Amino acid sequence: MDFEGIIEKASNLLMDSNFTIGLTGAGISAESGIPTFRGKNGLWSKFKVEELATPEAFNRNPKLVWKWYKWRMEIIFNARPNAGHYALVELERLGILKCIVTQNVDGLHHLAGNKCVIELHGNIRRGRCIKCNYKVIFNEPPENIPPKCPKCFNLLRPDVVWFGEAIPKNKLERAFNLFSKADLALVIGTSGIVQPAGYLPYIVKENGGLIIEINVEKSAITSIADIFIKDKASIALSKIVKYIKDKLTSKLYDASENEL
Ligand code: OAD
Repeated sequence: MDFEGIIEKASNLLMDSNFTIGLTGAGISAESGIPTFRGKNGLWSKFKVEELATPEAFNRNPKLVWKWYKWRMEIIFNARPNAGHYALVELERLGILKCIVTQNVDGLHHLAGNKCVIELHGNIRRGRCIKCNYKVIFNEPPENIPPKCPKCFNLLRPDVVWFGEAIPKNKLERAFNLFSKADLALVIGTSGIVQPAGYLPYIVKENGGLIIEINVEKSAITSIADIFIKDKASIALSKIVKYIKDKLTSKLYDASENEL
């Protein structure tokens, strides 16, 4: 099947689905200029997880951890949602996409305008007090690092999930519930190797649902994907939305012609 044929098939499956859930990873934000984690130029090829993204690393050297997060915040605060994010807003508006479960901490799905977004790994735009749990919203990266809690003056940490930490129970339960209900998972730009997020599409598959995957390369999810669209998220998603909108418009047009 050629590329247009694959887009057409994926779009028709999306239109036929009753409950589509999205799973996104760093790849959807790559075209907004935010580095991914794995691969040749990924963050984990330049930085060590155990020095920057674990609770132990923070206890050892909070300033070093904050220095890295401040650098990432600078990139993220200057980034804007791309066509891929906006296409997901359209799919939600059309009633096809019920919710997005994301591993991204950049907040770009919210900024684009999606209403239902579950941020499994937290959000880099927030800090959380290590003592009293008070949460702080950052409108820009903190000037002085490590930043302090405005309530109790203990250290703030980035409000993200680090390696070795559990995803908050309520978020994980919501994500599992949504994927258990879904008859279609739209998986975009994730290597699928970090758990439990990588397992979520498998729930849909086990329940007899379908998987559409968009990625520039094969991932740990590709082997169970019914449709694999090997392209950039912005290109594939924009084409899907255009196909769906054209089809819906022509249906409306046919219906109004019949009424005349
Ligand atoms: P990864 O960096 O592991 O994977 C990014 C995926 O996006 C890869 O499969 C790429 O092939 C794909 N990709 C890159 N550019 C793309 C594009 N323009 N369009 C479509 N796909 C593209 O990122 P995640 O899977 O999100 O966790 O990583 C999962 C978690 O591992 C992250 O949330 C983070 C990380 O360590 C924590 O920090 C806890």
